[in-house]
Amino acid sequence: MGGLIPESFIQELLGRLDIVEVIERHLPLKRAGREYQACCPFHDEKTPSFTVSPQKQFYHCFGCGAHGSVIGFAMNYEGLEFVDAVEDLARHAGLTVPREATRKAQPSAGLYEVMEAAACFYQDQLKTSQEAIDYLKKRGLSGEIAKEFGIGFAPSGWDNLMKHFGGDGKRPGGDEKKLSLLQRAGLLSEGKSGSYDKFRHRIMFPIHDRRGRVIGFGGRALDDDGPKYLNSPETELFHKGRELYGLYLARKGQAKLQQIIVVEGYMDVAALAQFGFHNCVATLGTATTGDQAELLFRAASEVVYCFDGDEAGRKAAWRALEATLPRLREGRQAKFLFLPDGEDPDTMVRSQGAGVFAALLDAAQPLSEFFFDHFTAAVDMASIDGRAKLVEMARPQVEMIPGGVFHDMMFSRLEALAQHRLLTSRSRAAGGSGKAPIGRKPAQYRTPMRTALAHLVQNPSLAALAGDMNRFSGCDLPGIEIYRELVDFCAKHPNMTTAQLLEFWHEHPARPHLITLASWQFPGEEKLLAQEFRDAVTGIELQWTELQIAHTPKIVDLGPDEKAALLQLQQHRQALIEALQGDKTQTGVSG
Ligand code: UTP
Ligand code: MN
Repeated sequence: MGGLIPESFIQELLGRLDIVEVIERHLPLKRAGREYQACCPFHDEKTPSFTVSPQKQFYHCFGCGAHGSVIGFAMNYEGLEFVDAVEDLARHAGLTVPREATRKAQPSAGLYEVMEAAACFYQDQLKTSQEAIDYLKKRGLSGEIAKEFGIGFAPSGWDNLMKHFGGDGKRPGGDEKKLSLLQRAGLLSEGKSGSYDKFRHRIMFPIHDRRGRVIGFGGRALDDDGPKYLNSPETELFHKGRELYGLYLARKGQAKLQQIIVVEGYMDVAALAQFGFHNCVATLGTATTGDQAELLFRAASEVVYCFDGDEAGRKAAWRALEATLPRLREGRQAKFLFLPDGEDPDTMVRSQGAGVFAALLDAAQPLSEFFFDHFTAAVDMASIDGRAKLVEMARPQVEMIPGGVFHDMMFSRLEALAQHRLLTSRSRAAGGSGKAPIGRKPAQYRTPMRTALAHLVQNPSLAALAGDMNRFSGCDLPGIEIYRELVDFCAKHPNMTTAQLLEFWHEHPARPHLITLASWQFPGEEKLLAQEFRDAVTGIELQWTELQIAHTPKIVDLGPDEKAALLQLQQHRQALIEALQGDKTQTGVSG
């Protein structure tokens, strides 16, 4: 991966690229006032609520809440990691990504090459091994699919791969550097008398990262010696919990799939592809992780987990459900398909055919159904105690779902099953009375503070109109600290776009708040914007003045100086009110 990407380069990239141009490569954008619109690529919709602002260099979907800069779009739309998204965008813009030197040596130098060379070696070995070819034939795997997946063969023997790389673990004098690379790549095992090939007498499945580079292997035993499958250990390149077997190939055809199918084994992915299901991936012999669930939703809006119907399969499915719940939002759907006992997707599609398998997929159980069936099966739903137990078990899980329609519907379902109205922890935290136990976060109303912050985020050059900050000395209105900080920042960077500003503030605790404000709609004309901003600042000052007046003790208790100060505050309040009213009438005339 090389060193860190300097922040200044990210800013330059954001400055060079036009988000409209980049998004237009993927979606047809229609001009609507100062912004562009399209149907949101991140959730299903018929009327466009996805907007792209050339001024802000930011996109925002009013339907599902997806938002971000051009880098965020590339990550979300193409399922890329931050670094990969930056590299892709830079390539398009004709820029090379500079790297800050880090203390650690480049971790991946040479490793990708070794993995690629090993994959080639295994593939060559497959061509000349009748035993391996016969095995794959017996399993019904076509030559075409074997080629597409880069399937290979590690022959018997302890040092075929090492010799291929010019080394021999038992004898000093081999190429030490290459040996150490093989070790770091996880291709060797260590014994008392030195290193030896880790993978022997196995069918080899190369595991690719999202850019198509080989980062690990899964090896299927041809005999009963050792475990049925042997996987690469965790290495600098390979982190099981963050990868999915087959994802690169599944996405090669198209950036965003309609549906992605998650199965348990390498052979299942290959068999399904052979029968026309090119949208399948497998977890790598581990439970589905949150990272993997996120990757899946970046690749497709609908995820179908397909597991064996046995005890182990149901357990695996539940783990997948738990990893999925916190990542559900509008436009994301998860389903579960349990196969009959003793079958896996490989055997199923071969014995029943693609049509039957497609029908099974269509009939897959929605997550909500699997979820509630799981709990209701465990308690006596006819008794109060049983239903209380249901609430106790299911509620914490429902609370894992982010706020939104899906969360609310799951909550309603739980209430219906419990035959009892519940208070969500969210409405409790918000001081809810129980009258409205369900609900989304209310839309934020426009206080002067929020309006001023929103204007600054959207037009940093407005900071020039903020006026003397000393007016607010001693002020403790909520948000004033961020306002100060933002005015200061914007005054220094008046020409930044919203996207650049938010990138700069990417670790600031106020960032989520500013992102919400970035999506607020304001009138188009520049003159009106300036006036609205000035009014908002005046509004803050008015609130602050009111607060000071309210905190002044009763007039009878004041000395002459204090009385004068109070009078001044009252006059100032009047002036501020008049200024606001004057602006209103002016705006009325010009608008
Ligand atoms: P299965 O035991 O279900 O095997 O393991 P399979 O996929 O049906 O394989 P075939 O059809 O017998 O060839 C499912 C997955 O679990 C992991 C592998 O990723 C495998 O594909 N696994 C299984 C291991 O990592 N190690 C093992 O020893 C067994
Ligand atoms: Mn199998």
